[in-house]
Amino acid sequence: MPSSPVPALVRVLQGEKLDRPPVWFMRQAGRCLPEYLALRSRAKDFISFCLDAEAATEVTLQPVRRFPYDAAIVFADILLIPMALGQRVWFEAGEGPRLGPLPEIAALRARVPETNHHLAAVGETVRGARAALEPERALIGFCGGPWTVATYMIQGRGGDREEARAYAYNHPAELEALIDVLVDASVDYLEMQVKAGAQVLQIFESWAENLAEDVFARLVTAPHRRIVERLRARGVTVPFIGFPRGAGALVEPYAEGAPVQAVGLDTQASAAIGRRLQASHAIQGALDPLMLRAGGEALDRRIDELIDQWSGGRHVFNLGHGVIPDTPMAHIEQALKRITGR
Ligand code: CP3
Repeated sequence: MPSSPVPALVRVLQGEKLDRPPVWFMRQAGRCLPEYLALRSRAKDFISFCLDAEAATEVTLQPVRRFPYDAAIVFADILLIPMALGQRVWFEAGEGPRLGPLPEIAALRARVPETNHHLAAVGETVRGARAALEPERALIGFCGGPWTVATYMIQGRGGDREEARAYAYNHPAELEALIDVLVDASVDYLEMQVKAGAQVLQIFESWAENLAEDVFARLVTAPHRRIVERLRARGVTVPFIGFPRGAGALVEPYAEGAPVQAVGLDTQASAAIGRRLQASHAIQGALDPLMLRAGGEALDRRIDELIDQWSGGRHVFNLGHGVIPDTPMAHIEQALKRITGR
């Protein structure tokens, strides 16, 4: 019986160096795709859209139908976890996420065992997407980094993270307890995604910037380590990508302390830091999403440069942050052609 091919992304994360880097883009599902906006306009609100497995499966697959990406990422959101734990979450059109008052930590803790019950639809989305996806393409599951999710829960919105950092210093014990709750819920949630067919897991720590070294170790690296170790103890073997956006020079201690197989790099990561990480890890990312949006010759040149500078080790081509909503389809096509030759 012919065994199904191992997707290029999984091979690179497991230790192989391939001639061309596999490619996918963070936030490739939704936002910039006209076919996404059409479906989305029919949904009641963003959260119910995420929890409509049929619609979410469709949105997961839309980008790979249009472009030769090597992976699909399950369509969901990092703020489904606070929702599952009992905090109110909604999206203001044109503004972004809003959350109701932070519940008592004990109340959040009491809801942890119900996480997967509230997020069962995401498991169905993963199952549906995996069944429909060609075997050569990987399916990526994800969760938010506990610190990043906590910042939204504390502030009730995005914006600069000063309020969340102040909370970290004024209420250190409560913050540790909140992060613990998020670690526990994320472990259950990621395990469910893997059982449903996710072959790679990414932890999106979008707000890792501006933290002092010891605080970063406590609030970012250690919780990621706990997530990975707990999943390994449950028999989960899939590779992890950790993406501490904004970590700067702390990305190296991060890679030493969090047992992830790949490290996501943001737009400011230097060629040298990437090469040093490649001694022990696969690296992913770094193309500025603004450059993708701008297109033109400069985009091709930068793509060549990134591929070239990291061709000596394991590299997953990606952006340094998510695709920007008004990115022209033609520029995504141009980039993928340059990277894949297709
Ligand atoms: O990558 C993908 O395409 C898969 C789906 C995905 C979404 N959100 C869908 C979404 C993923 C992986 C995320 C992660 C996410 N969500 C992060 C981490 C990555 C990052 O961008 O930093 C964060 C911080 C969030 C929280 C969040 N969700 C914000 C700040 C917003 C509003 C602004 C925006 O459009 O990103 C969302 C809404 C959201 N999540 C949309 C989509 C497609 C847009 C909602 C809409 O259609 O109106």
